[in-house]
Amino acid sequence: MANEQQKRVALGVSGGIAAYKAVEILRGLQKAGCFVRVAMTLRACEFIQPLTFRALTGEHVIVDDYAPDNPDPIAHITFSQTVDLLLIAPATANIIAKFANGIADDFLTSTYLASNAPVLVAPAMNTTMWNHPATQRNLERLRADGVHFVEPDAGEMACGTFGPGRLSEPERVVAAALALMTEHAPRAAQDLAGEHVLITAGATREEIDPVRFLSNRSSGRMGFALAEAARARGATVTVVAGATSAQAPANVRLVLATSAEEMRAAVFQELGAATVFIAAAAVADYRPAKRAESKIKKSDAPLTLTLEPTPDILAEVSGVRQNGLLVIGFAAETTNVVEHARQKLLRKGLDAIVANDITRAGAGFDVETNLITLITRDTEAPVEVPLMSKLEAAHRILDEVARLRRTRR
Ligand code: CTP
Repeated sequence: MANEQQKRVALGVSGGIAAYKAVEILRGLQKAGCFVRVAMTLRACEFIQPLTFRALTGEHVIVDDYAPDNPDPIAHITFSQTVDLLLIAPATANIIAKFANGIADDFLTSTYLASNAPVLVAPAMNTTMWNHPATQRNLERLRADGVHFVEPDAGEMACGTFGPGRLSEPERVVAAALALMTEHAPRAAQDLAGEHVLITAGATREEIDPVRFLSNRSSGRMGFALAEAARARGATVTVVAGATSAQAPANVRLVLATSAEEMRAAVFQELGAATVFIAAAAVADYRPAKRAESKIKKSDAPLTLTLEPTPDILAEVSGVRQNGLLVIGFAAETTNVVEHARQKLLRKGLDAIVANDITRAGAGFDVETNLITLITRDTEAPVEVPLMSKLEAAHRILDEVARLRRTRR
């Protein structure tokens, strides 16, 4: 059974050679914290056994709702109306044609008609079948009906031909599924109303002399995305921003700070009003021990800079927290990501930490997307969030904040 916080996905598997990839999609969804139930067409069972999905989900896999072992007499209604997403992967030309024409001659097609959840279809078929005007007409029709698609990839097909039609990579299907659920989540219902979220964003600059400084590549995008998402969910938001190259969102209070020391001062100034603190800034860990009053002149001699540690704003905030303040940190890691991030969470006494492996494409500094893992103090398993826009990733982080708040009450 799904718990209250889990996103519920109905995964429909239809009969194509790519059916085995549905296993990876299922695992990806589960890793991201979703509760998944599987339905299969009869032909899908020629490619993969229902037992595989049953073992992985612990739930009955429905192929034929008329079968005597089906535990639910109105399965197509319960199955379809209690989910946050209906995902069909792989979707054959046949199932697409049936959906487009409202044919409901088996469990999966009846479920499609009975569902009011968003529908995501990941087609997989031979290139000629994909390009056929009948298929293209059906796809057009479904798009007009509001169905979402993960377009197939182009490449070598199982049948040896080249062209579009190959099921998109499981990771992309999972990312599209999560993004769609984020978009459709009823949470637009202001679940952070009453919270005052204080966020640090961007890079600090630690001055060496009047013209030079030490800094990093943070753009401020992740912090600003959190601010925008928190605002949309009803929170009052203050951002303490260092150097940024991204646009700050509207309707949030922006306090500028340049160095780690200034950022610390600004954070403590604002902290009294805050109920949630999120440290998304890339704060320099070290600063020059002495700032030169005038510009350092070039000479032929080697130049040595002595650095000293900066105050750890996040650890200090966590150390003085009161009145149920939730404290969330970030961890940019390159090795043993989850382990290092969990140690950081414990060392700094955080409620949750957002880890990203900055060696992976699309994650970390100065890019539009992020690939994060969420680790919370109160749960064992880290939640892996696949590659998605920083705004969507921000919503996933705030889902966790909202959950932590509920469990604290
Ligand atoms: N942070 C902070 N003040 C600092 C340094 C970091 O508030 N002076 C916050 C960051 O905003 C981020 C988290 O702490 O939320 C990162 O922790 P940190 O220990 O700096 O991580 P790394 O720099 O990645 O640490 P390490 O070099 O030990 O991996």
